[in-house]
Amino acid sequence: MLTFSSSDRVFVLTGAGVSAESGIPTFRGVGGLWRNYRIEEVASPHAWHRDPRLVWEFYSMRRRVASAAKPNPAHFALAKLENILQGHLFVCTQNVDNLHEQAGSRNVVHMHGQLFKSRCDTCSHPPFDDANLYEPPAEVPRCECGGRIRPHICWFGEVPFELDQIYHALDQCTLFIAVGTSGVVEPAASFVAHVAGRARTVYVGPENPANASSFTECYLGKAGEVLPDLLGAL
Ligand code: OAD
Repeated sequence: MLTFSSSDRVFVLTGAGVSAESGIPTFRGVGGLWRNYRIEEVASPHAWHRDPRLVWEFYSMRRRVASAAKPNPAHFALAKLENILQGHLFVCTQNVDNLHEQAGSRNVVHMHGQLFKSRCDTCSHPPFDDANLYEPPAEVPRCECGGRIRPHICWFGEVPFELDQIYHALDQCTLFIAVGTSGVVEPAASFVAHVAGRARTVYVGPENPANASSFTECYLGKAGEVLPDLLGAL
C-alpha cells in the first residue's frame, strides 16, 4: 500500500489498460485495436485528408463502444484519491474516453484528446461536445466556415494537448504512478524517465511495460484489482 504525506505531489498517468476492465479495447496486445485497424488509415492527418469518412467510421465505432462503458474500481479509486489529496493529485490520461470523469474525477488532462468532442479542421472555433455517430452513408459534417468537422483527437504526427501543464506537474511530482500503458508511445513513455531519480515511480498493469526499467516498483495485475488496494482501502 502506498502512503501519502502532505508534502507529496502525485502525478498519475493512465493508459488504455485502466479502461480495459470497463470493456474498452486496448490498442496493442491480444484483442487490441491496432490488430484490426491500421493507424495510418484511421488515426493520422494523412488518413483524414485521404478518407475522412473512414476516419469517422472508426471514431463513431469507438464512440458507440465508449458510450456503453462504465467506470471500474480503478477509476473510482483515482477519483477518491483526488478528494483526499485535494490539489496535490494531477491525473493525465492518454485515454479519450470519459470514464475518469464518470467516476467523479474533476481535474483530468486528456493529452490525446476526447472522444466526445469534435472541432473544425480549418477554423479556430474551440472544440465542442459531440456524441454523434457519423457513419456512412452519412456525409462528413461541416463547420459553418466550410471546413470539415473532425474528431478532437491527437493523431499520430500531431502534438499532444496541454504539454506545458503536464511538464510543470511532472517537475513538481514526488510520486509518479503509471497505470495500464505499454510505455511505447511518446512523449508519455518518457514521463517516467523525466522524473526518475527524484520521484518514486510506480507501475500498475498485468505485465511489465516497455519502459519498466525506469520504474522503481511494478505491481503486476489488473488495475481494477491492484489499484484500490495500492491506494489504501479507499
Ligand atoms: P496500449 O494498448 O499500448 O497498452 C495497454 C496496456 O494496458 C498494456 O501494457 C497492457 O498490459 C495493459 N493492460 C491490459 N489490461 C489491463 C488491466 N486490466 N489493467 C491494467 N493494465 C492493463 O495502450 P496505451 O499505452 O494507452 O494513442 O497506448 C498509448 C497510445 O497509443 C494511445 O493513447 C493511443 C495509442 O495509439 C492515440 O491514438 C494517439
